[in-house]
Amino acid sequence: MTILHEPPTRLSDGTHIEDLIDRENRMVAARVFTDPEIYELEQERLFGSSWIAVGHESEIPDPGDFVARSIGEDPVMVVRNRAGQIRILLNVCSHRGMGVCRIGVGTTRYFTCPYHGWKYDTDGRLVSVPAERSMYGDGLDRSRFSLPQARVATCGGIIFGNWDENAPSLEEYLGPAALYLRLSFERTPGGVVVAGPPARFTIEANWKLAADQFQGDAYHTAMLHRSMVEGGYVSTDPEAILRGINIGTVGGHHIRLLDFRRATATGADELTEPLEKLAGITPELAALAREHLSSADADLLSGLPPSTANVFPNVFWFSTRVPPADFGPSEGFLSFRIIVPHGPAHLEQLSWALYEKDAPAEVQERTVQNYVQTFGTGGVWEQDDTEAWVAIQRALRGPKGRQRWFHYGARSADPGDELPGFNWPGPARDDCQWLAWQRYFDVMTQGGPR
Ligand code: FES
Ligand code: FE
Repeated sequence: MTILHEPPTRLSDGTHIEDLIDRENRMVAARVFTDPEIYELEQERLFGSSWIAVGHESEIPDPGDFVARSIGEDPVMVVRNRAGQIRILLNVCSHRGMGVCRIGVGTTRYFTCPYHGWKYDTDGRLVSVPAERSMYGDGLDRSRFSLPQARVATCGGIIFGNWDENAPSLEEYLGPAALYLRLSFERTPGGVVVAGPPARFTIEANWKLAADQFQGDAYHTAMLHRSMVEGGYVSTDPEAILRGINIGTVGGHHIRLLDFRRATATGADELTEPLEKLAGITPELAALAREHLSSADADLLSGLPPSTANVFPNVFWFSTRVPPADFGPSEGFLSFRIIVPHGPAHLEQLSWALYEKDAPAEVQERTVQNYVQTFGTGGVWEQDDTEAWVAIQRALRGPKGRQRWFHYGARSADPGDELPGFNWPGPARDDCQWLAWQRYFDVMTQGGPR
C-alpha cells in the first residue's frame, strides 16, 4: 500500500477520523453526514483516488459526442475523441479557470472557452489561442496548457474515471463486482443502452445517506415502502423481502442476488428457461444470452441473477424483476444511478433507464415504464427513499442530533465463498453496509489500499 496524501491525524477540533467509527460495535458517528471539514477531505481522498462513474458509453456513441458531468465537485467533460476513445477532461480552463463547456450534452470537434476564447480539442489539447502573437509573441508553449485528464475505464458499459495515476485498474478496484456488473448489463451480444438522458434531481441530504441505503439496506423495505406492501406489490411477509444472497467485497461493493433456484426447486416456476424471467429479456434474447455467456455465467445469471447492487462509493444499479411472494410473473426494469455530492447537505442524483439494445420496441418501452413508475424521479419507491434521506439530514442539524451514532449491528455468521465475494445467503443484515463503511474509513484515514 502506498499513501499518496499526508493524512491529517485530526480534524481541527482535535477529533481523529478514526474516532468517528466504532469498529467493535459497528457504529458510525452521525458527524460524517454533517461536517464540512469531513466533506472537504472526502473530495480529496475519496473522490480523488476512487473509480467514479460518470455516465454510460451509449450516451456518447460517435466521435465528438460529449456530456458534462463531475467527479465529486470537479466538473468534467466526458467526450469521445476523433479516434473513438473516451476521454474525461477537467472542465476548468487552463487560462483562468472558466468552465470551458457550458452545456450538458452535445457534439463538437472543439471546446472553446467563453471567457477569452482558448480552444481545446477532444483530447484536451490547447489548439488555438486568440491573438496569440499579439498577446504572447512566440512565448506560449501550448503543449503546457492541455486540460488535465482522468484515467478512463468501462465495465458493463458504465464509464468510470479516476484522477489517481497510482490507483489499481478498474478491474482490480471492482474485484468480484465486475462479474456481476457484466452479468447485469452485458448479458446479450448487443448489451444495454440508455433510453435517453438521465433524470436529475437535487435534494437536501448528504450524499452518503443515499449511498448507505444502496449499499445493502433491504431492511427498510417493509416499513419505508409500506404503501407498496399494502398495495400488494411486495410480499406482506417481511422475511420474503430479505430472501436472496448478499454479496459483499472488501472494496465496499455490494450485490444482492435473487434466488430463482428456490422457485425452480419448488416447481413454482413453469418456465423452462429461467433467463426469460430477467428484466427486459425476451425468449429470443434469453437464447442469445445463452450463446453469448459462458455456461458457468449463464447458470449463475439464470439461478442467482443480480438484482440491486452498488460500486463503492456512489454508483448503484438495478437489474431487477422483484418476484412476488408466489414467484409468479412480474415486470422489471434496468437502471443505474450516480449520486453526486454538492456540499455537506446537498446531493444530486442522475438516474438512467436502460434497455436491451436488441429488444423489440414494445419491450424496451415497457422496461422504461416500469422504471418511471418505480425508481424514476416521481416513482413510488424513489419518493419514499428520498423523503427518508432529507428527514435524516434535518434531524441531524442540531448539536444533540449531530452527536448521535448510526448502528450497523445486525451481523450474519461467517460468510461462504461459493460465489465470488463474501456470500451471505438469507436476510440482508448489515454486513455489506458495514464493509462499505470500513472501506470508507480506510480511505479517509490512510488514502486507501492501492
Ligand atoms: Fe478560458 Fe481565459 S479563462 S480563455
Ligand atoms: Fe428503498
